[in-house]
Amino acid sequence: MEIEGKHALVTGGAVGIGLEITRALSAAGASVLVVGRDQARMESVARLTPRVTTFVADLTVAGDRERLIEHVSTGGTPLDILVNNAGTMQYFALTAPDAQNRIDRELALDLQAPIHLATALLPRLLERPEAAIVNVTTGLVYAPFGNTPAYSAAKAGLHAFTRSLRWQTRLSRLKVLELLPPTVATEMTARYDGPKIKPAKVAADLVEGLRTGRDVVRPGQTKALYVMARLAPGFLFNIINNAADRTPLD
Ligand SMILES: NC(=O)c1ccc[n+]([C@@H]2O[C@H](COP(=O)([O-])OP(=O)(O)OC[C@H]3O[C@@H](n4cnc5c(N)ncnc54)[C@H](OP(=O)(O)O)[C@@H]3O)[C@@H](O)[C@H]2O)c1
Repeated sequence: MEIEGKHALVTGGAVGIGLEITRALSAAGASVLVVGRDQARMESVARLTPRVTTFVADLTVAGDRERLIEHVSTGGTPLDILVNNAGTMQYFALTAPDAQNRIDRELALDLQAPIHLATALLPRLLERPEAAIVNVTTGLVYAPFGNTPAYSAAKAGLHAFTRSLRWQTRLSRLKVLELLPPTVATEMTARYDGPKIKPAKVAADLVEGLRTGRDVVRPGQTKALYVMARLAPGFLFNIINNAADRTPLD
């Protein structure tokens, strides 16, 4: 697809991987509506370029998601590219006193919100001559971290939903792209001391994938995870979880 002149929405587009996606899409000539909770971050990303506008919403809250859908649907600006990027990854024991609360919040943000936005905005996207939905999952869909149980479950669910969405829209002009980053140097992975790639590399791979019409983009180490998951899934699970075990639980 051509990025120039497109209208994109990037959830969590003011920091980390989302910020680099915002930068890369706007550098390629798209206008970008960035969604997040933090007002100061929204103001800072809006200063990047006049092509960036912002909308404050907590995507764990269904009412905030409805406000966003209403804003996009009635604002008079078309929508060509939806990037479901916002996410959290919490390390916690399933025996923690607040475990259920953490699970509910994380499933709401990492699974329910992208499914809600994709489904509600699908009719608008299907009207466009060229459009894309990007769901950001993770290389961990190939082998879950035991210590991030809600995250792992949510991303595996989003991976499956993305495939269903692609199947149901296969006869349309919509592209459904899954982006599976490996470990990336952002706030999310601050406590993890292993190797990390730069968020700008993930964003560059995504833009290239959109341009060339890819269904799946696996930056960096995710390619190796994909191959290992096919050849030796038990071995992959063990090495991922033994490496992650150095990361403390909350
Ligand atoms: N970093 C990695 O190693 C890695 C690896 C694989 C996949 N990923 C995925 O890549 C995506 C981005 O990760 P990242 O590392 O860039 O994370 P990050 O730097 O921690 O940023 C998370 C983003 O999500 C937004 N967000 C958090 N809670 C929200 C809420 N309740 N409502 C709306 N927005 C919310 C944040 O904005 P506000 O704080 O302003 O709300 C922020 O923009 C996530 O889906 C993550 O799972 C990351």
